[in-house]
Amino acid sequence: MNAFHIAHIPIDPPVALAPMEGVTDRAFRSLIRSFGGCGLTVTEFVSSEGLTRDVKAAWRMAELDAGERPVSIQIYGRDPERMAQAARHCEGLGADIVDINLGCPSKRVTSGCSGSALMKEPALAREIFDAVHSAIAVPMTVKMRLGWDDSSLNAPEIAASAEAAGAAMVAVHGRTRMQSYKGKSRWDEIRSVKEAVAIPLVVNGDIVDGASARAALAASGGDGVMVGRGVMADPWAIARIAAELRGTPFEEPGIDDRHAALHGYLDRYGAEDWENRRTTARVKAVCGYFSKGLHLASRLRASVQRARSEAEVREILDLYFAQVRERDASRPAVVPG
Ligand SMILES: Cc1cc2nc3c(=O)[nH]c(=O)nc-3n(C[C@H](O)[C@H](O)[C@H](O)COP(=O)(O)O)c2cc1C
Repeated sequence: MNAFHIAHIPIDPPVALAPMEGVTDRAFRSLIRSFGGCGLTVTEFVSSEGLTRDVKAAWRMAELDAGERPVSIQIYGRDPERMAQAARHCEGLGADIVDINLGCPSKRVTSGCSGSALMKEPALAREIFDAVHSAIAVPMTVKMRLGWDDSSLNAPEIAASAEAAGAAMVAVHGRTRMQSYKGKSRWDEIRSVKEAVAIPLVVNGDIVDGASARAALAASGGDGVMVGRGVMADPWAIARIAAELRGTPFEEPGIDDRHAALHGYLDRYGAEDWENRRTTARVKAVCGYFSKGLHLASRLRASVQRARSEAEVREILDLYFAQVRERDASRPAVVPG
């Protein structure tokens, strides 16, 4: 599977970590990258209102890791001028790419008429594309769904409009806004978007392993894949998918790798982060992702939920992994299935 380019930027391997609010912060992205196979990372969506009104939380969400290249900062909003200003801030923060969110189904975002609601307002979406594109020198990309609902599958038109405004890539999640996460991602319907544009297209939705990545690429004609929840279910999913697409061997992580990765993840947060309750909630969730399928994982999750400090989380992890090692000394580390 070949790399593709977003303008001059090679995406190699052509496997991206999807933006996920509450999950893909700087620490998580850096951790997933450290496993290899990740050709592009994208921040959680950042509010253009927040960035342009100097809201600390918005600026935190746009923080990048020094070694994180190429990286895209995703912004959302409905005011073209604020989106343009926010995009300039992103460029100033070191983003290689600025991505516009046209896919978020969350009521909080769509009731402000941004995210996927913008797919119902193609003229305003175009104004936003034009304003953002002319505000920045780095490439602009757009992430969208198939449309608002089944009676308005207008992703091909929106993608063509983004391309005409100068977008260098579109990513498409093969569901409508009204579908939310129900049903399956319709990779075959993404093909009509691919046929409407000459820029690269990244296919997204329900890609969890090499087989689903290949099937999504074949059905959509896409140039790359984007993986979200698959990484929450298995943090090594991207590394494994990239290896399978390249046809190179992949060494499954063992207990020691999981244990070390979690400490490495905790190391990636600074003291200031630990004072923030959002960080603690994220860490607790991530501990869950890394222990899925392991012996007594639910007990680990419950203990971590009760932890009140970083030191306590580390202590619980050490105890837990010691127990797992002891028990599994003569068995496979991960329960199949
Ligand atoms: C917890 C969560 C948060 C998400 N946050 C964002 C976001 O900030 N921006 C965005 O474009 N999509 C967001 N998404 C959508 C994902 O990027 C992706 O399009 C969707 O989950 C389908 O891909 P998947 O099946 O690989 O997860 C989010 C999804 C989840 C599960």
